[in-house]
Amino acid sequence: MKKFMKIIYVAGARPNFIKIASILRACKKVPDIGSLLVHTGQHYTKNMSKTFFEELDIPTPDVNLEVGSGSHAHQTAEIMKRFELVVLKHDCDAVMVVGDVNSTVACALVAAKLGIKVIHVEAGLRSYDRTMPEEINRILTDAISDVLFVTEPSGLDNLKRQGIDGTKVHFVGNVMIDTLEHYREKATNSPILDELNLRAKQYVVITLHRPNNVDQHEALIRILDALAEIQKEIKIVFPIHPRTVKRLVSDGLMGRLKYLPNMLTTKPFGYLDFLRLMSESRLVITDSGGIQEETTILGVPCLTVRENTERPITITEGTNILVGTDINRILSAYRESLNTTKPTTRPQLWDGKASERIVQILLNSL
Ligand code: UD1
Ligand code: UDP
Repeated sequence: MKKFMKIIYVAGARPNFIKIASILRACKKVPDIGSLLVHTGQHYTKNMSKTFFEELDIPTPDVNLEVGSGSHAHQTAEIMKRFELVVLKHDCDAVMVVGDVNSTVACALVAAKLGIKVIHVEAGLRSYDRTMPEEINRILTDAISDVLFVTEPSGLDNLKRQGIDGTKVHFVGNVMIDTLEHYREKATNSPILDELNLRAKQYVVITLHRPNNVDQHEALIRILDALAEIQKEIKIVFPIHPRTVKRLVSDGLMGRLKYLPNMLTTKPFGYLDFLRLMSESRLVITDSGGIQEETTILGVPCLTVRENTERPITITEGTNILVGTDINRILSAYRESLNTTKPTTRPQLWDGKASERIVQILLNSL
């Protein structure tokens, strides 16, 4: 029987770094699993990449594919070409991919075609909205994965519906929450509130980056109009994602934001500052996947400016409410969540130990 497993871990974009941090920490504790960390370079600016490696104690990647930005086909193909060379050079038993970004599907496909096992962490999530590039990535990655680690029960149902063999599927909880629990206390030392002159519970945090919101001019305008109203009542902090910066500039909307007196626009924050900001905020408005989950654990109300979510447990058990992009709907949900507290429970297995369960299952498979 084989006693050692070598895994190539793939991370390419901001949420991947946050997920892989906990998995690598758990794997490091066991001598039977060897690792090679590959950064695809999908995200590359310091505040979208290096900062997370530093703050979350992620080892320097063994390989950086440096693919950078491009169209979906260009970026996915470029990752595949470069990643194939890495897999061919470094003998390995499995490739682990996390989440639903282009790096995830590209590297999974390379491994599957080379006959190497694919491990997918955060499998089974579905928005059932194929206009989301991530939905395509999720369906394809799950279809070719050999081991699928699921964060919430809906994932089990979705994989069953897709005809995935149940023996490959393991409900382990949420590695993004492992990272949150690990760094939660450290984040309380972040000086970000003082630096930005903010008082706890007296500001709202907003993040936006989904193409359906930021690359569609009308949707972007509707969201900005809602924010313009909200900032009349409470300060808003808006760390702007690079995709959104690009769009605000090209659509001539940056000036409009800067004119709002109670709107503080910033560059993306590091993990610890952002965790502190979310924790102390009155409310979060977002279209991020990960932030819907984090606010559920932090007990902070979350208005998601989308019509659907692939993370339904954040609604049924957490603080999340879908509000779409209609200005009146956003404003009434904002007012309602200031006055009411949604009853919540911690989703099953979101206990900070998902990575340990993953490692145990991998060890048992040796
Ligand atoms: C990607 C993921 C998305 C994930 C998000 C997390 C895909 C299809 N999308 O979206 O699922 O939620 O990351 O943040 O994989 N840019 C920079 N610096 C960077 C990276 C990007 O300036 O470090 C700019 C470039 O102009 C680029 C644009 O942002 O064209 C979009 O980047 P890209 O990685 O294509 O998609 P994201 O919107 O970041
Ligand atoms: N995040 C961060 N700084 C920011 C905004 C977000 O550290 O300025 C973190 C956030 O706490 C979460 C992750 O980035 O852990 C979410 O990533 P993103 O929204 O880019 O991607 P998604 O989860 O939607 O795929």
